Amino acid sequence: MYTNDARTKVITVGVGGATSSGKTTLVKHLQGCLHNSLIIHQDDFVTPLEKLPVDTEYGFADCEDAPTAVDWDRMATFLSESRMKGILPADHRSFEGLNEAKVVPVDQEVIAKWQGRSEELVSEHLERYGEKLVWVLIDGFLLYWDERIVSNLDVRVFLRVPEDIARARREDRTYHTPELILSTDGGVWRDPPHYWEKAIWPAYTRAHKHIFEGGDVIEGIPNETIKNIMLFEPTETRVEDMVDVIVENVINVSAKTFEKN
Ligand SMILES: Nc1ncnc2c1ncn2[C@@H]1O[C@H](COP(=O)(O)OP(=O)(O)OP(=O)(O)O)[C@@H](O)[C@H]1O
Ligand SMILES: [Mg+2]
Repeated sequence: MYTNDARTKVITVGVGGATSSGKTTLVKHLQGCLHNSLIIHQDDFVTPLEKLPVDTEYGFADCEDAPTAVDWDRMATFLSESRMKGILPADHRSFEGLNEAKVVPVDQEVIAKWQGRSEELVSEHLERYGEKLVWVLIDGFLLYWDERIVSNLDVRVFLRVPEDIARARREDRTYHTPELILSTDGGVWRDPPHYWEKAIWPAYTRAHKHIFEGGDVIEGIPNETIKNIMLFEPTETRVEDMVDVIVENVINVSAKTFEKN
């Protein structure tokens, strides 16, 4: 249920990438930089376990394959309504905060610089157009697969890490999913044997090859399928440098959008 009827202007920023590529870590830092900002986690829209296909060889529920992994209708509706209204529904509960993640610190000067600049932009926008400016950040492991999601992203970011690094980080973690918490008293998900090589990585490759030249998700450069996608290799770039480049782009795109108003 949405309750806000103030005039708002929303700019959306998508951060995609494989599991454990650092999406949630990054969007939290971006939120620190952007004065009025909200986060939507795709993990809150995953398909309940009992509705997922079961692997015929190993018997696990496959939570990774793009066509079945996400309740696409619910996520697409949620995103387009959040984009129109600039708030999340009052009854929306995110389970993301329960997941384990080691903090990756960033230079607080970078955060403070953009917090100040974004606050100025919010004030300018309110003065000129009488609208509240809001940034909605979307963090997703399957962000560039459904056209209804892609077309609702004003800024598009992709994090690419080598498979061995993503796998090692993943194996170090446990996950909470909405469904497990609700049905099993706060249970957690741990990957069953063979889950990485049989489910996670093949599904990641299938869902992302269309965005890289030659279908090469490992080393290919982005083709034009996802316009202006910003590709980062977080093992090569410090988090604050990614934050700095992304927020600069977000501020530029936001300022340009207003000129068109
Ligand atoms: N730039 C980084 N350098 C080193 N470690 C990082 C970096 N970014 C994230 N990590 C670590 O990797 C782990 C996964 O990070 P994070 O939760 O942000 O990934 P994610 O892409 O959101 O994964 P998932 O899709 O599974 O939710 C965390 O323990 C985090 O501390
Ligand atoms: Mg995450």
